[in-house]
Amino acid sequence: MYTNVWYVAARSDELTDKPLYVEMLGTDFVLFRDAEGNAACLSNACPHRGDSLANGSVSKNGEIICPFHGWHFNREGECTKIPSVGDDDPQTAAPGVRVDAYPVIEKQGLIWTFLGDEPEKAKPIIDIPELNDPEYTVIPYDVIFESNFHTAKFSNLDYVHLPIVHGIRFEDNENPYQPPPHTVVKTDYGLTAFIETESTYSKGAWSNIREKGTRVKSVLKYFIAGQTLRGQVEIGAIGSGKFTCFYEFSTPIDRTRTMMRYYFFRNFMTHKWMDKMALKRNLKNIYEDKVIAEAQVPKYGPDGMSAIVGKHEDTIVKVYWEMMHEMRDQGWQIDFKAWNNMIDDGEHCVVPSVSRHENQSQWQYPSIPRIQAK
Ligand code: FES
Ligand SMILES: [Fe+2]
Repeated sequence: MYTNVWYVAARSDELTDKPLYVEMLGTDFVLFRDAEGNAACLSNACPHRGDSLANGSVSKNGEIICPFHGWHFNREGECTKIPSVGDDDPQTAAPGVRVDAYPVIEKQGLIWTFLGDEPEKAKPIIDIPELNDPEYTVIPYDVIFESNFHTAKFSNLDYVHLPIVHGIRFEDNENPYQPPPHTVVKTDYGLTAFIETESTYSKGAWSNIREKGTRVKSVLKYFIAGQTLRGQVEIGAIGSGKFTCFYEFSTPIDRTRTMMRYYFFRNFMTHKWMDKMALKRNLKNIYEDKVIAEAQVPKYGPDGMSAIVGKHEDTIVKVYWEMMHEMRDQGWQIDFKAWNNMIDDGEHCVVPSVSRHENQSQWQYPSIPRIQAK
C-alpha cells in the first residue's frame, strides 16, 4: 500500500452533517463538513487521549468535537477550543496539540483525499468526461473485495482471463483463448492498453447491438490517482459510437480488504428502466472477478512479478509493477514489518500529512513507517 496518492474516501452523498469514519491504508480517518459545507479529512485519533473523533459531533461553526473531553479541531487539524479552560488560548493550555489534516477535493460525486506529505509530486485527480456528457447514463456501485489491493486490481488487468472467467472469447482468432497482439504503454498518469477483436456476442437485449463479423475495440487505462482502472469497449463495433465504459476506483481499507467503487457508463439503450439489466451484466463480471481475487494467495499480496510469467497473461501486470515500484522507490510504500513492530510496542501510527512534513516535531502519534526511498 502506498501513501502520496489521491484516494476516493467516500461518495459525496455518504457525508452528511455528521462525522463519517473511514478506514484507509490500515488506519483511521474522519470526514466531516465545515461551516461552508466543504468536506474535510483528519486523522481520527484525538491527540489528547486517543478517542475516536468520528464518534464526536460537528459544531455549528464546522469544527469536529472529540466525544471524550470536548476539544474542538478545525479542518486544518488545529485545536481551537478546550471547554475545561473556557476562553483561554488552547495553544497555551495544551501547546502544539493538533491532528494530521489531509487535502480534500470533492468532485464527480466523490470525496477525494490526499493521503501523504508530498502532494506536489502526486498524480492529479482524473477527469471523468462521461459524467458531463448528456449522451451517457451512469450507474454507481460499491463493493468490498476481501482481498489485498493488488490482487483486487489484477482481476481486470489481463486479457487472458476474459474467455476463462467471463466467457468473452476472441472469436476471430484461431485459438479464441489467445488475445490478439496488444501493446501496453506507460503514460504520465499510469498505463494504457488496447485490443481489437471480434469478441463473443452479448446475449439477451444487447445481442442486436453489433452485427456478426464485426470487431470491437477495448481500451484499458490505469490511473495512479484513485488507483483507478478505466475500461472502455466500443461494443456496437468499431466506428459505431456505441460505448460501454467503467471506472473502478480502489481504496485499500487494510491489508486484506479493498473498497471497490464503480461508475458504469453506456451511451446506448439509455432508458432508466434498462439500468437494472445493465447493472446485472456489469455485476456478473465483477462478482466473477471477486471470487478469483478473494481466493488468491499470498493474503497480503505480492510485491512484484511472480517468478513464473505467462506468455500472454502478464503483459499489463508487468507495467503495473513498474508503476508501483516507482512509488516504492520514492519512499511512499508502507513498511508493514516496521509498522507491526511499532504496534507491538504499543504505538498508534498515522499517515504523515503535509504539515508533518513541514514540522516534524511535537506530534502525538508517530508516522506510519515507509520503505526508504532509493
Ligand atoms: S480524548 Fe479527545 S479531548 Fe480528551
Ligand atoms: Fe475480470
